Amino acid sequence: MSGSVITGWGTALPEKVVTNAEFEARLDTTDEWIVERTGIRERRFGGMTSSLAVEAGAAAVTKAGLEPSDIDLLILSTTTPDKAVPATSSTVHAQLGCSGAAFDLNAACAGYVYALVTADAMLGARIGFERALVIGADTLSVITDMEDRGTAVLFGDGAGAVVLEHHEDAEPLMLASDLGLDGSLLPILYCEHGGYLKMEGKEVFRKAVRVTVDSAAKVLADAELTGDRIALFVPHQANVRIIDAMLQRLGIPPERAALVLDRTGNTSSASIPLALSDAADAGRLSDGDLILFSGFGAGMTWASAVVRWGR
Ligand code: ACO
Repeated sequence: MSGSVITGWGTALPEKVVTNAEFEARLDTTDEWIVERTGIRERRFGGMTSSLAVEAGAAAVTKAGLEPSDIDLLILSTTTPDKAVPATSSTVHAQLGCSGAAFDLNAACAGYVYALVTADAMLGARIGFERALVIGADTLSVITDMEDRGTAVLFGDGAGAVVLEHHEDAEPLMLASDLGLDGSLLPILYCEHGGYLKMEGKEVFRKAVRVTVDSAAKVLADAELTGDRIALFVPHQANVRIIDAMLQRLGIPPERAALVLDRTGNTSSASIPLALSDAADAGRLSDGDLILFSGFGAGMTWASAVVRWGR
């Protein structure tokens, strides 16, 4: 028996807080509409994807009691790379001083779960990797049209990270996972090079509820679990109404959801590790607890995983 264990976690948020009141002052919107329709109260804008990733990655490595040079696999999930070439993970790898391999992964807002599943599989394949740093970092403010009330109020910038270490005597990290995509849904959410995010919000909402519930129900069934066995539900933080619908349909008690959406807005790849770290720092996780991760994003991609916390 062998598996990977989450041994560290960390986050980074830009200093600049942007409240709903600031949008109210310059767009045809209200704090009441934003809170009621999305659950978002404020978000953070600023920084570069690499700088946020470095800060979150360094915090996760320190929490794990490691040095960056102990990391031999770095996966950065992002949709907002610093540059077209090279991958932003190159900058992060160099600035942190990691060893071994690094690459970017783009599966939009489902990317963090894709990255976790990939890192766990690469550690488990015994192909030379012992410790992975899995970072989700995005600066969506850069690709958001701040004059479009339909998208401007939704997004924020940030990063989160975890360290995964392979142990010969650990139980498997993943009880079940499901990664998927429906490319025919590309037109409902996309961003051209040099442009802004275009989104059919209502359609994304409808499809997101369907694909995330189906995918999460599949991993629960594969792991022979029911929703009430999940100690912590860590969904992509896009809209509190999507999260509420999932909790209800999956039979997960609402108090078991990890939520940072009200403080961060939708931070794409960063949203799941930000919510996980927030729950871990609040002491909401014990060894052996089962966590359900659920993401969805442009593509349309989706991803779910049931993960064991601790050994
Ligand atoms: N303030 C006030 N009114 C607004 C705002 C705003 N900020 N934005 C839209 N409206 C208006 C619309 O123009 C529309 O007006 P109309 O009826 O006169 O045409 C009305 O509010 C209702 O609009 P809907 O789009 O039907 O509102 P809905 O309740 O669906 O909420 C929202 C919109 C919040 C965008 C919702 O559809 C949603 O969250 N969708 C999913 C978005 C999502 O998850 N995106 C992320 C996916 S991947 C990623 O993370 C990058």
